[in-house]
Amino acid sequence: MSQEDGLKKVISHAKEYGFVFPSSEIYDGLSAAYDYGQLGSELKNNIKNYWWTAMVRMNDNIVGIDASIFMHPKTWKASGHVDAFNDPLIDNKDSNKRYRADVLIEDHIAKIDKKIDKDVSKGLNRFGDDFNEVEFRATNVNVLRRQTTIDEINGKFKDAMNAEDLAGVKTLIEDLGIVCPVSGSKNWTDVRQFNLMFSTELGAVSGDSGVIYLRPETAQGIFVNFLNVQKSGRMKLPFGIAQIGKAFRNEIIARQFIFRMREFEQMEMQFFVKPGTQGEWYEFWKEERKKWHSTLGLGDENYKFHDHIKLAHYADAACDIEFNFPMGFKELEGIHSRTDFDLKSHEEFSGKKLRFFDPETKESFVPYVVETSIGLDRMFLAVLCNSYREEDLGEGNSRTVLSIPFALAPVKVAILPLVKKDGLPEKAREVLSKLRLNHNCQYDEKDGIGRRYRRQDAIGTPLCITIDHDSLNDDAVTVRERDGMTQERVAISDIPAYVESRVGMATLF
Ligand code: GAP
Repeated sequence: MSQEDGLKKVISHAKEYGFVFPSSEIYDGLSAAYDYGQLGSELKNNIKNYWWTAMVRMNDNIVGIDASIFMHPKTWKASGHVDAFNDPLIDNKDSNKRYRADVLIEDHIAKIDKKIDKDVSKGLNRFGDDFNEVEFRATNVNVLRRQTTIDEINGKFKDAMNAEDLAGVKTLIEDLGIVCPVSGSKNWTDVRQFNLMFSTELGAVSGDSGVIYLRPETAQGIFVNFLNVQKSGRMKLPFGIAQIGKAFRNEIIARQFIFRMREFEQMEMQFFVKPGTQGEWYEFWKEERKKWHSTLGLGDENYKFHDHIKLAHYADAACDIEFNFPMGFKELEGIHSRTDFDLKSHEEFSGKKLRFFDPETKESFVPYVVETSIGLDRMFLAVLCNSYREEDLGEGNSRTVLSIPFALAPVKVAILPLVKKDGLPEKAREVLSKLRLNHNCQYDEKDGIGRRYRRQDAIGTPLCITIDHDSLNDDAVTVRERDGMTQERVAISDIPAYVESRVGMATLF
C-alpha cells in the first residue's frame, strides 16, 4: 500500500466510524476544516487528558490556565506576529497553484534524504551482520556527497531567509530545478511574504483601531498572564504554565487531512527559568517530551528530532519532534528556547513590569522561557495512522483493527450479552453500571458475537466483555483483548479493578 493510499484509508475509516467528518459537509465542506465526531472527540479528550496529567498533575511546579482566544491587538505587535509571522509563498503560473517556498525546498531535501536511506539499506544488504551504519554514513562517498548537497541547500536557504532575500529564495528554487507537482513546470512567480493571522473587527468599531486577531498560538495568553499566575500561585522559578486551546492560522496551503488546518488546537507549556539556565532546561524538556511519546508505544523508530535551520524571531534554540506520518516524517511538536523575548517585549509595549523577584538574591529579572508546543490534531493523526491495520486472520477471515494505545482508546470496554434473552442483557447492564462512571463503555446486543467483536476492533476498543449463560451461575465474564484476541475469565466483582489496571490513564504513568 502506498503512503498516499495509507492516508486515504485512514481518512475514510475515520469518517465511516465517527472519528472525523469534513466540516459543514452538507454544503460540500470547507477546505481544511474538520469536525471531530462521537469517537474522535473521545480520543481527542483522552490525548488532552494524558498531556494535562503529565504536565500539570505530575509536576509540582506546573499549573494550567485557559486564556481567551481574543487578546488585546498590541499583544501581536509585541510578540512580533504582526510584522514577522509570515510564510514565503510562490505561485506556479501554469497550474495557478500556490506553495510555501520553504516547503518546496524541504521536499526537495527529503528526496535526497531518501536516496541516502537507500544507500544505507544497500550497504546493509551487502555487509549483513557486519554492517556498521554510523561508520557507513560517515565514510561512504555517495552518502557524503548527498549530505554535502543537503548542507549546501540548507545553508543557501538559511542565508537568503535571514537576509530577507526573497529573490534569492526564488533563484534557489530555480537552480534546484524544482517543478510544480501539478503542472510539472518551472514557471514560478516571485516569492512574497504572506501574514498568517486572521483578523476581524471588535464590536461596532471599524477601521484599524477595531482590528483584532484570532490567536495564532496559545503561548501569548500564557505570557500576558505570567505575573498573575506567578503572584496568585506564589510560584518560584523554575515553573511552568500549561494551556490547551484553539489557534488559527490562514495557512497558504492547508492539506493532508487534519495535519495542517486553519483552525487547530495546541497543547503548550511555557517553562520560566533563570537566565543562563535555558540550555539545560531545553535539553531537559526534549528528553521529557521524548519519554511522553515513547510511553504510548507508537514505536520509537517513528520519531526523530530535527533542529530548526532558520530560528524563529524569538528563539535561541529550537527543534521539532517529527513523526513518521503516512506522508513521511513531519513536524508533530516543537521545543523552543524563546529567551526573554516575549516577556521583555510585553513589558515594552504594555509599560508594565513582568519580572520575577528572587527573595534569596533580592534580584528582580525577566525570566527566560523554554516552551513545548504540540498540535493536538497532529497527535490525533499520529495515533490514528499508527494504529490502523488490516489483518489477515487466515481461512478467508480478515479484520480492520485500530490498535490505539489502550488508555487513549475512545471506547474502553464493550459489554456484550451473548444473546438478547434469558436474563443476559440484565446481567450485562449490571456489569455496565459498575464501569460507566470511570470508563467510556458501549453496550451492544445486536448481531452475532463475531460481528460485534469486529465492530469493536474497527474502533479500537481494547476490551470486550461477554456475558454468557455461565455468568448467571458463576458471576464471571469472558474478557477478550483486542490485539492478541486472547480471552480470559474474570469474576464480575474483580471487573472494575481489572479494567482500570488494563485501560486506565494510570497505566501510562
Ligand atoms: N508557540 C509555538 C508555536 O506555535 P509552532 O511550531 O508554530 O510553534 C506548534 O506550532 C505545533 O502546533 C506544531 O508542532 C504543530 O503540531 C501544530 N500546528 C502548527 N500549525 C498547525 C496547523 N496549521 N494545523 C495543525 N497543527 C498545527
